[in-house]
Amino acid sequence: MTEALLRINGLTLRRGSAAVLDEVSLTLLKGRTLGLVGESGAGKSTLAMAIIGLLMAPEVQLSGSMLYQGQQLVGLSDKRFSQLRGKKIGLIFQDATTSLDPCFTIGEQIIEPLRRHLGLKRDQALERAVELLDSVGIPDARSRLSAYPHQLSGGMQQRVMISIALACSPELLIADEPTSALDVTVQAQIMDLILQRVRATGASAVIVLHDLALTSQVCDDVAVMYAGQIVETGPAHLVLDQALHPYTTGLRSCVVEFDSSELVPLPGTVPSLNEMPSGCRFSSRCAYVQPKCLDARPPLEWVDGRWVACWQLAAIHPKATV
Ligand SMILES: Nc1ncnc2c1ncn2[C@@H]1O[C@H](COP(=O)(O)OP(=O)(O)OP(=O)(O)O)[C@@H](O)[C@H]1O
Ligand SMILES: [Mg+2]
Repeated sequence: MTEALLRINGLTLRRGSAAVLDEVSLTLLKGRTLGLVGESGAGKSTLAMAIIGLLMAPEVQLSGSMLYQGQQLVGLSDKRFSQLRGKKIGLIFQDATTSLDPCFTIGEQIIEPLRRHLGLKRDQALERAVELLDSVGIPDARSRLSAYPHQLSGGMQQRVMISIALACSPELLIADEPTSALDVTVQAQIMDLILQRVRATGASAVIVLHDLALTSQVCDDVAVMYAGQIVETGPAHLVLDQALHPYTTGLRSCVVEFDSSELVPLPGTVPSLNEMPSGCRFSSRCAYVQPKCLDARPPLEWVDGRWVACWQLAAIHPKATV
């Protein structure tokens, strides 16, 4: 059995009275890639930011547990988090143009974590920076060290951010829509690059993705989020190709062939956080809703090789085995 790198259990994140994440539970196994999917506002970025300690009290209130190799991240101090970030956990955000500092050269920004976390001397760090830029396909890497971010294209900036994220060979990479700010022609290239680097270093990754087809291609596992909750999670091929939760099925049918007679687009929109139904949060949009769904929240249960939270599974999928 593969060991867990990150085990999240009952994680709730509140902004004021609104539970933006509501009892999120999921496991990231060592060496595996987990895709987070769900409509806009589902809480994907919030979860990614909470895992790396960029959302903490007093800005938000966190409860539940996030065990990273046995270390509890909920309530961890900012200082301890900043030791983890960059060294053990690398980050890639959607938009390199806002994440790279415009005032510092590319070289300065890559050598900073190498010096701080790995204790390299300046010369050693510079040599390593050249290797890193080279490994992410930046031509003429040495001369790029003195460039400022605005002197590079968006795709090149994203490559720089990837090289910074991977500079200290992190055990975990968190990437929030790492390619969606890029031209479609370079998206696949950059995603390949990220995965190639993750696999080459034996790291695990949590990747927020909008594209379900891409998710099933590049992720081992997937967690489907709806309104701050995980509704279905497990191996990507099972969850995405043989979806059990009506929300996952709905998301799938939004992307399958548009002339399909089985197409059942998701009706309605995600309720606002102040108007969440008290039972199943998906109940207001679900075609299978029953009174029980309005009363109580369905727990995640192990069904046909994945976890799924739905009271009506037996009615919708009579052959599914719990
Ligand atoms: N700074 C903030 N202040 C208040 N509410 C916020 C803030 N950031 C996000 N939210 C709310 O938290 C919820 C989750 O947002 P989040 O950005 O995590 O969703 P997401 O799944 O990443 O969406 P997207 O696909 O659009 O990036 C949303 O209801 C959003 O309105
Ligand atoms: Mg987001």
